[in-house]
Amino acid sequence: MQILDGKALSSKIKDEVALEVKQLKIETGRVPGLAVILVGNDEASHAYVGMKKKACDAVGFYSVTHEMPKDISQEAIEKTIEMMNENPNIDGILVQLPLPEQIDTTRLLELVAPEKDVDGFHPFNVGRLTTGLDGFVPCTPLGIMKLLQEYKIDVKGMNACVVGASNIVGKPMASLLLNANASVDICHIYTKDLKKHTLEADILLVGVGVINLIKEDMVKDNVIIIDIGINRAENGKLVGDVDFENVSKKASFITPVPGGVGPMTIAMLLRNTLESAKLRKN
Ligand SMILES: NC(=O)c1ccc[n+]([C@@H]2O[C@H](COP(=O)([O-])OP(=O)(O)OC[C@H]3O[C@@H](n4cnc5c(N)ncnc54)[C@H](O)[C@@H]3O)[C@@H](O)[C@H]2O)c1
Repeated sequence: MQILDGKALSSKIKDEVALEVKQLKIETGRVPGLAVILVGNDEASHAYVGMKKKACDAVGFYSVTHEMPKDISQEAIEKTIEMMNENPNIDGILVQLPLPEQIDTTRLLELVAPEKDVDGFHPFNVGRLTTGLDGFVPCTPLGIMKLLQEYKIDVKGMNACVVGASNIVGKPMASLLLNANASVDICHIYTKDLKKHTLEADILLVGVGVINLIKEDMVKDNVIIIDIGINRAENGKLVGDVDFENVSKKASFITPVPGGVGPMTIAMLLRNTLESAKLRKN
């Protein structure tokens, strides 16, 4: 069994991004800029945004976080997004999800200019992804494809099983795998007999948010496991959706939690923002 080390690869990517930022600054006099919209007091959201800001600082990006109270109006957030769309120092706009109940999330995501949509959540970019065209791709699935590439894992012809079908993880993951010529099976909360599906998988990708959802009797020998879940165990430790201790014994490759998919997500956010800045340069 080999560990797919997202921490190591992400730090290599961050070094590359930092170098390119220096070069861009020499050429254009400016650095990539990321704007984050953060609404309410969700603890996890604040932690993620903090990590993103730290990563931006480390590679030399300009970044700004627009923190707003949880009872903010839809209109006020929309105005901020419109301002960021117009701001020439901003290359990427990120609306941290989830948003409070009174806010129309879809409307906000659709308001972000597609050319600054570094999260790849705008329907324009979603459409380009599903048709196999260039565009911004959501950071978590994109990071997973980079990780597979680094370990020379080609999914062409493989049976891929994606468990979890959200717009930000499971669906774009399935599109990327399909574009890479895997046969893709997508499972979710209403799937009957999950085990029947997971047992067929040459590569199993799980992004659900349930501790130990995937157990050793649910996978075949030599399976490749990508654990996207991030959960807080009772002892306070971060764990994924896969019973790592027992499933790893049967796997050929596996991502750890933490240190697998999570760091790759942040690295891809930096990469997408840099690419946006480079496109804008022209
Ligand atoms: N590693 C990262 O960078 C990263 C990024 C985003 C999300 N995540 C993690 O991935 C997980 C999923 O996040 P999300 O935003 O997609 O969540 P979500 O709640 O939007 O979607 C969860 C999906 O899992 C499915 N599901 C729920 N229970 C199930 C079950 N018992 N069996 C099969 N399917 C089930 C649902 O139908 C849904 O499609 C969470 O743990 C989240 O923290 C990690």
